[in-house]
Amino acid sequence: MPCGCSLTTTTLIPTAGEPAPESVTPAERTAKPRTVTTPTSRAGGRWEGAMDKAIEAAAAVRHLTSPNPWVGCVVIAPNGSAFTGATSPPGGPHAERHALTSAGAAAKDATLITTLEPCDHQGRTGPCTDAIIEAGIRRAVIAVLDPDPAVSGAGVARLQSEGIEVQVGVRQAEVERQLLAYLHHRRTGRPWMVAKLAASIDGRTAAPDGTSQWITSLEARTDAHRLRAVSDAVIVGAGTVRADDPSLTVRHWTPPGGRVWSDGREPTTVVQPRRVVVGSAARGARIHPCLQWEGSLDDLVVRLGTDGATQALIEGGPAAAGAFVRAGLVDSFVVYLAPALFAGDDGAPILSGPGAQSIHDIVRGKITAVERLGPDVRIDMAVTDTA
Ligand SMILES: NC(=O)c1ccc[n+]([C@@H]2O[C@H](COP(=O)([O-])OP(=O)(O)OC[C@H]3O[C@@H](n4cnc5c(N)ncnc54)[C@H](OP(=O)(O)O)[C@@H]3O)[C@@H](O)[C@H]2O)c1
Repeated sequence: MPCGCSLTTTTLIPTAGEPAPESVTPAERTAKPRTVTTPTSRAGGRWEGAMDKAIEAAAAVRHLTSPNPWVGCVVIAPNGSAFTGATSPPGGPHAERHALTSAGAAAKDATLITTLEPCDHQGRTGPCTDAIIEAGIRRAVIAVLDPDPAVSGAGVARLQSEGIEVQVGVRQAEVERQLLAYLHHRRTGRPWMVAKLAASIDGRTAAPDGTSQWITSLEARTDAHRLRAVSDAVIVGAGTVRADDPSLTVRHWTPPGGRVWSDGREPTTVVQPRRVVVGSAARGARIHPCLQWEGSLDDLVVRLGTDGATQALIEGGPAAAGAFVRAGLVDSFVVYLAPALFAGDDGAPILSGPGAQSIHDIVRGKITAVERLGPDVRIDMAVTDTA
């Protein structure tokens, strides 16, 4: 958080509307080598610190790995040495391989702690289970099972079949929150749809003369660029293209980096999200090259998911964002509120178009986080009930 303000991020729910991940049959961890155990507070507690480091490593590559999951891994050698890894961009080694490569011979009889179930299939890279088995890992501790049909328990089964002790569920809630967009995409085939809105505290986004830049602070706008960086697609309405001629690129955010790859490089590259206009963009508009979408909004969401987008960001304006909301296509909102008022009803609203006609029809949600950004406030809301 870039300010030293008193409000703290209070994430309450990770996956509103999301089914819980597959559960694992509890079993005794030490009695037999071929068991999956859900962590008791003691057994899980032993690895929570290492899982926190794995979560931290995954955060460093959040903006780089989609459509693959952003995973972190820590190998703890019998002498206590720790080796960290995180997923490379698509085509590169997964987190487990980076951690195992860094560990080298120290991986023999070690414990491997990873945020997501290791893959057991040949994709663009070989199965991580092969690397884990070959390295001589004795125990694997996993936060979340992978719902991808190509994995879906196969990674755990393979490790167990080789006599590796497997424990699942350590820091499960935290990792489900971190991998929310990936898990949603693999379960539904659709991207997690986030609507980003910036407004005055009385819910207005532009003045009657059309001016709107800037209502919120540099801190809020920087945070919005980070949100773009972790999204695979950024969507605006044609009205915004006409009014603002936005480029919609990630510019004001620098990835934090971190030594999470075994080749010593740091994950500091920014991958620009795909730009999408609902409607059309004039030739010469800064948003080009972009996808210009004239069909149904639901078909657009399906198309983005099919193309591998795990998260898409709707950036307005009010008409386009309102249409997505009314179509039930928004999974969560990020709203930046500035301490300012237009003090009237002639400015542009945060969403436009015909809204709920009755209190019984309003879109309900759950606040998942509140954060102070400079003078502004960021409120995250996951939709729990769409009219
Ligand atoms: N504060 C913020 O967060 C924020 C963010 C973005 C924009 N803005 C401001 O919002 C204003 C523009 O907003 P706006 O509401 O006029 O335009 P808009 O929402 O950006 O775009 C609306 C246009 O999108 C096209 N469209 C295609 N399919 C649509 C559908 N299913 N539903 C709705 N629109 C569809 C239509 O273009 P055609 O008319 O070409 O058919 C429609 O006129 C600007 O002043 C901009 O600065 C504010």
